[in-house]
Amino acid sequence: MITFFVIGLTVHVVFFISIFDIYFTSPLVHGMTPHSTPLEPPASRLVLVVADGLRADSLFTLLPNGSSRTPYLRSIIEDKGTWGVSHTRVPTESRPGHVALIAGFYEDVSAVAKGWKENPVEFDSVFNESRHTWCWGSPDILPMFAKGASGDHVYTHTYPAVEEDFASTDASKLDSWVFTQVKSFFKSAQSNSTLKASLWEDKNVFFLHLLGIDTNGHAHRPMSQEYLDNIGLVDAGVAEVVSIIEDFFDNDGRTAYVFTSDHGMTNWGSHGAGHPSETLTPLVAWGAGIQKAKGVTEPQPYNDGFLQDWKLEHLRRVDVSQGVLPLLYLNNSERFKAESMYTNAIQVLEQFKMKMMQKKETTLSFLFTPYQYVQ
Ligand SMILES: *[C@@H]1O[C@H](CO)[C@@H](O)[C@H](O)[C@H]1NC(C)=O
Ligand SMILES: *[C@@H]1O[C@H](CO)[C@@H](O)[C@H](O)[C@H]1NC(C)=O
Ligand SMILES: *[C@@H]1O[C@H](CO)[C@@H](O)[C@H](O)[C@H]1NC(C)=O
Ligand SMILES: *[C@@H]1O[C@H](CO)[C@@H](O)[C@H](O)[C@H]1NC(C)=O
Ligand SMILES: [Zn+2]
Repeated sequence: MITFFVIGLTVHVVFFISIFDIYFTSPLVHGMTPHSTPLEPPASRLVLVVADGLRADSLFTLLPNGSSRTPYLRSIIEDKGTWGVSHTRVPTESRPGHVALIAGFYEDVSAVAKGWKENPVEFDSVFNESRHTWCWGSPDILPMFAKGASGDHVYTHTYPAVEEDFASTDASKLDSWVFTQVKSFFKSAQSNSTLKASLWEDKNVFFLHLLGIDTNGHAHRPMSQEYLDNIGLVDAGVAEVVSIIEDFFDNDGRTAYVFTSDHGMTNWGSHGAGHPSETLTPLVAWGAGIQKAKGVTEPQPYNDGFLQDWKLEHLRRVDVSQGVLPLLYLNNSERFKAESMYTNAIQVLEQFKMKMMQKKETTLSFLFTPYQYVQ
């Protein structure tokens, strides 16, 4: 009887611990050799705009009278850029969403168990790999990425945390703050030769984090006028910032723009879970190296009904997924695309090699069977 009890208990304990071992340990590996494409990149700089908590349908759905509440971004989708839906994953929170955007992986659950503000694991990101990154936005979001970057080439500009009142009646002020700061930053750079010279260097990133829509969604829900008006304000702000940046760089055609969101929001103003209203986020990209809007006449390979709902059947939609190079976003030579795919594949292989090495080191040799290489 005692033996039976002990065996039963042991089995339960082992199963219980294994759950934590499987799901709550970071799968990230470090020390891979970085690879890059040897060809000249089509863009010198990236402007990344993240409208926190913006649902895909809230951006793409037209008003009842057929006009758009985001006329600028709609014109980009129709004439200049490529659009699609990006799919986030549970937990649909800001940190994991941004990690996926700037580092290219879905953060493991263990990260959330350790609180959502800090980086529980170190990871490389496009900010860290940039020459300089200037960020504007929420004091909750920006510092954790600056921390993950080595050296001091990631500069953050945040508003005081007290202003970020989630019940504030006019949260869109948070976004106006960002746009105003960006404008005055480029203005001051005109008369500051040091700053101007750094801005003209290649491999720079400008990151605008807009928390107003998220805050309005929590306070008033996504169907509210506050949430919807905030989307219009963001659209106008993006239009203005783009024109300022284009002027600053003498319309050199070397700036790439990406507009997206880190997660959506349910109808009752929450996020974190896996409902489509939380996981479906908009993606619009345009500028240097990015494919122009492509008209299509044949049915598109999506059957979720969104193309009809959003009146976008006639424009090619390109959804993105993890680990796959979004070739249809690129306007470049076949050689460039091939080289980029090759680099991507080699980089994924590096992770596999590192994982295999770690596994080999921690496994008894007679229990370790490597995958067979296929010739
Ligand atoms: C559609 O409605 C919006 C707001 O209700 C209005 O601002 C816009 O001018 C209207 N557009 C047209 C084409 O009537
Ligand atoms: C950040 O970039 C530097 C230089 O490329 C690299 O040495 C470092 O490992 C990166 N940080 C992380 C956390 O990977
Ligand atoms: C010029 O910009 C640099 C870098 O942002 C800054 O450190 C410096 O104080 C600025 N100089 C003036 C005169 O504003
Ligand atoms: C692709 O980029 C080239 C310049 O590199 C430009 O001339 C051309 O118009 C672009 N094509 C599209 C479809 O965006
Ligand atoms: Zn968020």
